[in-house]
Amino acid sequence: MDDTRNHRSLWTVTAPPRDFPVARGDLTVDVAVIGGGIAGLTTAFLLKRAGKRVAVLEMHRVLSGQTGQTTAHLTELLDTPYSTLRRDFGEKGARLAATSSRVALEQVATLVETLGLDCDFQRVPAFRFAETTRELEALEQELTEARDAGLLASLVRSVPLPFPVKGAMRVEDQALVHPRKYLLGLADRIPGDGSHVLEQTRVTEIHEGTPCRVVTDHGVVTATDVVEATTVPLNRVALQTRLYPYRTYAVAGPLESPLEAAQYDDSQEPYHYLRTQRVDGRVYLIVGGEDHKVGAEQDTDRRYAALEDYTLKRFPVRSLTHRWSGQVIEPVDGLPFIGRNVGSRHVHVATGFSGTGMTFGTLAGMLLTDLILGNESPFTALYSPSRKKPLAGVRDFLQENADVAFRFVADRLSRPEAQHLSEVAPGEAKVLEVEGQKVAVYREPDGTAHAVSPVCTHLGCHVHWNGAERSWDCPCHGARYSPTGKVLNGPAMKDLPSRQLPKLPE
Ligand SMILES: Cc1cc2nc3c(=O)[nH]c(=O)nc-3n(C[C@H](O)[C@H](O)[C@H](O)COP(=O)(O)OP(=O)(O)OC[C@H]3O[C@@H](n4cnc5c(N)ncnc54)[C@H](O)[C@@H]3O)c2cc1C
Ligand code: FES
Repeated sequence: MDDTRNHRSLWTVTAPPRDFPVARGDLTVDVAVIGGGIAGLTTAFLLKRAGKRVAVLEMHRVLSGQTGQTTAHLTELLDTPYSTLRRDFGEKGARLAATSSRVALEQVATLVETLGLDCDFQRVPAFRFAETTRELEALEQELTEARDAGLLASLVRSVPLPFPVKGAMRVEDQALVHPRKYLLGLADRIPGDGSHVLEQTRVTEIHEGTPCRVVTDHGVVTATDVVEATTVPLNRVALQTRLYPYRTYAVAGPLESPLEAAQYDDSQEPYHYLRTQRVDGRVYLIVGGEDHKVGAEQDTDRRYAALEDYTLKRFPVRSLTHRWSGQVIEPVDGLPFIGRNVGSRHVHVATGFSGTGMTFGTLAGMLLTDLILGNESPFTALYSPSRKKPLAGVRDFLQENADVAFRFVADRLSRPEAQHLSEVAPGEAKVLEVEGQKVAVYREPDGTAHAVSPVCTHLGCHVHWNGAERSWDCPCHGARYSPTGKVLNGPAMKDLPSRQLPKLPE
């Protein structure tokens, strides 16, 4: 592996974190917002602006979750094709999905302008391009649907890419932003007048009531309303059977010759997504893709290698200087769940954003603010977590949940990968069997071994090793843990317990 590459996202290295305090003791606010990503920070900012006292509770640092790993295309070109949205949600539903995406994009533009945020926001066209005649035919069909839904879309033969393509669907007036600069600008404006941004404050329990009680590892937050903006809601079983976690990868490197600033997606399955970003006077190309179900790939370095190969073969990039990855959460029927949690009055969720969480995270902030303030929104029913599943989603629902059930059983019955620590080389991770019990073991390059239970503390699936990120990932609902078992990603709220290993022979 090339050790000179930066393993943090371009956004993380170009916008260092701010220091927000840790919670100290109990607190009372109007709204407790759990999660300091785009959904949580946008909701908290808009509520505070409307006069509410809010507390953002973030277990790590703000913007260290998926929002720090994004590629930040702000787009109306959703992952679910408009033809599918029309089939499953009707013409009105497809139009509302497009309108709400436009409204979210304009919300970001307005905040950038009115707050004077220096965050590299720029309006650009989006190109979804086809490299084969078949892909072009599919795009032509989707073009009609996208236009009917309200997008300013056209078919173009000439696409400003440095390799030949058959054509593209061009959509006007989309946007790019530096996500950390934009959202740190919102986060900075939340504290004060009874509102807080609290970091390194993990939520361990939520008790709905009048008022609600949110238990953290540093005290209890009492609030009238609670927002779970944690990518996947914490321990909410009903909704989790309708959410499926996927891992996606990104690489970046300086361009040797110019590329028109735009959003570019190819038509492969899974697709690649591209954009540019200026850093210290140099323009970088960012390429994302190589998605797979969480836990389905242990050799995650292979995915980076494929992405690097794709990039170096097609673009004037000599070396890739940054690589990073993250999770996207796919909803069963193609649209996110934003609103009151099923059966709740005061607990709200925002999840299932697919690969368009910049748009949907912003929309979540707007929609949840309306709900909490008691304002009407034309988008409430479309995104309601209580909506009926369209029939077309049933096959995916059964398939994905059959996969979860399979993983739950198969991983328990599977043979251990090794019997003894001596079979785990430094830098490797394996599941061992020790005195009849499975133990997940990672050895640092210096040989130090970390042994933890492989049973996810969320609902009991077994975790799988993710080699490139050095984490134990749960294939069922996407929880992630460090080699020592610390929760990196919800929905799990508790760490993996550590386990004892017999000593290596001297
Ligand atoms: C490589 C990649 C590329 C992407 N590209 C795009 C793109 O181009 N356009 C686009 O629109 N979307 C894109 N996405 C998707 C988008 O980034 C995400 O959907 C979005 O950032 C999710 O935001 P969020 O606020 O829901 O979650 P997050 O940003 O993950 O925030 C959730 C926060 O909750 C915190 N948390 C979790 N549990 C607890 C707890 N118990 N207590 C306290 N805090 C907790 C986490 O630490 C985290 O910081 C991409 C994603 C990836 C990974
Ligand atoms: S995340 Fe649900 S069982 Fe692991």
